[in-house]
Amino acid sequence: MSIFINEKTGLFQIVTENTEYQMKADKYGVLKHLWYGGKTGCDMEYLLNYPDVGFSGNIYDAGNDRTYSLDTLPLEYACEGVGDYRITAAAAVHSDGSCALDLRYKGYRISKGKYGIKGLPAVYADENEAETLEIILKDNCSDIEVTLKYGVLPKLDIITRCISIANNGNEPVIFTKAASLCLDIPQGSWEWIHFHGRHTLERQIERMPLNHGIQESSSTRGTSSHQQNPTVLLCSPDCTETAGSCIGAVLMYSGSFQTKLQLDQLEQVRLIVGIHPDLFRWELKPSEVFDTPEVILSYSGSGMEALSHNFQKVIREHVCRGKYKLSERPVLINNWEATYFDFDENKILKIAEQAADLGVDMLVLDDGWFGKRDDDCSGLGDWFVNEKKIGGGLGRLAEKIKGMGMKFGLWFEPEMVSEDSELYRAHPEWAIQIPSKKPVRSRYQLVLDMTNPEVREYIFEAISNILNSADISYVKWDMNRSICDWHTPCLPAENQGEMPHRYILGLYELLERLTNAFPDVLFEGCSGGGGRFDAGMLYYCPQIWCSDDTDAFERTKIQYGTSFFYPVSAVGAHISAVPGHQTGRITPIETRAVTAMAGSFGYELDLNTLSDGEKQKVKEQIVRFKQDGPLIHNGLYYRLSNPMTDKFAVWEFVSENRTDVLVNGVIFRTEPNSRQYSIKLRGLLPEADYRLAENGKVYKGSALMNGGILLPKSWGDYVPVEMHFTVEV
Ligand code: DGJ
Repeated sequence: MSIFINEKTGLFQIVTENTEYQMKADKYGVLKHLWYGGKTGCDMEYLLNYPDVGFSGNIYDAGNDRTYSLDTLPLEYACEGVGDYRITAAAAVHSDGSCALDLRYKGYRISKGKYGIKGLPAVYADENEAETLEIILKDNCSDIEVTLKYGVLPKLDIITRCISIANNGNEPVIFTKAASLCLDIPQGSWEWIHFHGRHTLERQIERMPLNHGIQESSSTRGTSSHQQNPTVLLCSPDCTETAGSCIGAVLMYSGSFQTKLQLDQLEQVRLIVGIHPDLFRWELKPSEVFDTPEVILSYSGSGMEALSHNFQKVIREHVCRGKYKLSERPVLINNWEATYFDFDENKILKIAEQAADLGVDMLVLDDGWFGKRDDDCSGLGDWFVNEKKIGGGLGRLAEKIKGMGMKFGLWFEPEMVSEDSELYRAHPEWAIQIPSKKPVRSRYQLVLDMTNPEVREYIFEAISNILNSADISYVKWDMNRSICDWHTPCLPAENQGEMPHRYILGLYELLERLTNAFPDVLFEGCSGGGGRFDAGMLYYCPQIWCSDDTDAFERTKIQYGTSFFYPVSAVGAHISAVPGHQTGRITPIETRAVTAMAGSFGYELDLNTLSDGEKQKVKEQIVRFKQDGPLIHNGLYYRLSNPMTDKFAVWEFVSENRTDVLVNGVIFRTEPNSRQYSIKLRGLLPEADYRLAENGKVYKGSALMNGGILLPKSWGDYVPVEMHFTVEV
């Protein structure tokens, strides 16, 4: 049991293996937040002690008690219009034009298992793994009821949250904000970490002190974006990988989002996470219910490594779904960087033959196989094969690839349309645009209106026809622009503000339908690389192309940032040609291999262009990935260095029983006259003896963890690190 309620005092306690979460419905029915942190075992209200703070008003029920203010108290779900002047989670306009939401406690429900959310991705867990707590709050001045939902996975130290809003009145209510998470942290001193970037440079880590006032990371692009990721970390100033307090939050959502933080006048922190309110205006009609996306929360008192382990595990085992969730992923070859649009069947078959010869499992035919698509100006939406390039069709090509012993995968960009396409000529009204304005183009393309059921039906049929027409084992679901010009003929003028969220609901509905219809197909997400790398997409696609930057050095940083929340198996990573197409950098093929193997591994070049020596290396790499893959994907992942500041990137995979260890990395530069660097391993059995395969020597676990191991002597730049340790029996 992980949920405890004291009916007398109104205290709610959620207890997981190492953490505790507390809130309390007080005598006024206000649900106060008391605690999220290490286990305390007692009512933490004693820490709340507020003076009469000038200009912080008091609710009427508090009478003459000027110390009771919603502007200072930690609240479980703070709303606008009731005298809390900090950032808030929800705001509504009632039919009389008033804007207050005065939520008070009404009751609670507990159930076994984890709640689901209709139409939205959510963490799933069975009755032995999870419990659900629902706390019902009611607006004092309307018939709006807000249910706060908590999913508890105690073994994983995970708590999920989402909000369900019901209109039980007779008049519609307009919501202009409905965040998924409000978390007040009244005690302690905190810094925050977010993950920013751009196309080909996603999830760069940034750690900053919290300043008084408001700070945020967000996206208004209609996608979760390259620029900021819907994840956030709060940590104590002394927090490191292995020590200190930290709280992480992951929004399971693929659209515009906002993570807002405020350090208030009393040095308290408030964190709000949810759909971006700038692009949200939702009319809740009588009897309707609105569900927010879910936030996954975790706390660690022992640094960020433990926090990452919690998130990586919950996302791999309780978010990702389907046949490939835990099974080995095929080593694939993708033709994009090998050919771009310039290919025909013969060229593809040549690449395939060489790949098959070296042991690759699957060939993925990327952009350009359909419609009129010789560059990125045309063709999107026309999901029928381009016979000029693939004469005889996909069925025949897939059979030929199969004949080589490989599977066949295919690229789609289902949400897009080119103006120069049959689809656009037939249905210009399916593209998102404002009737009185020329649309913003990006990569020459427009976005299809995913709120329109006819559009979704068309895409479902078009993709299904292709998948049924040939033996296709994999789909790469790409999405190559940010969205604007929000307007849809499917909604009346007053409801246009619902479109951005309805777009995501439409996308999820389509993905659910397709992944159910084709359960054996491995879906990989993509948005110009990692522009929609989020837990929402991972619910449908167990892996996502991590970045269009395949340069091994840059990837060490991109994958470092990605690892804070997302599992290694989710990270699509390929070896590409040198000089790298994004940077012109030359890195050894072994270095490209160690970085690409820290993910779902593949190749993205014409293997025919390699020397015989390199081909032999590719053969060996594939054998190695087949051997090490289970440890890489199922093991615990440790960040042993920080590639943003250190001279090398080193990471480690440790099997759950701690007997197998793989240390990988890249030494960035060789300096003359320098000593060999050493690195301390983590997560080993201190008393056990570990044999290092590369030199046959035996080291004690405690020595490797306390003293470390020398990294290889380097010569040249971007030197790969590869060390396998196994416990001696
Ligand atoms: C962007 C993707 O990230 C690339 O891998 C490739 O599929 C291109 N789109 C194709 O247009």
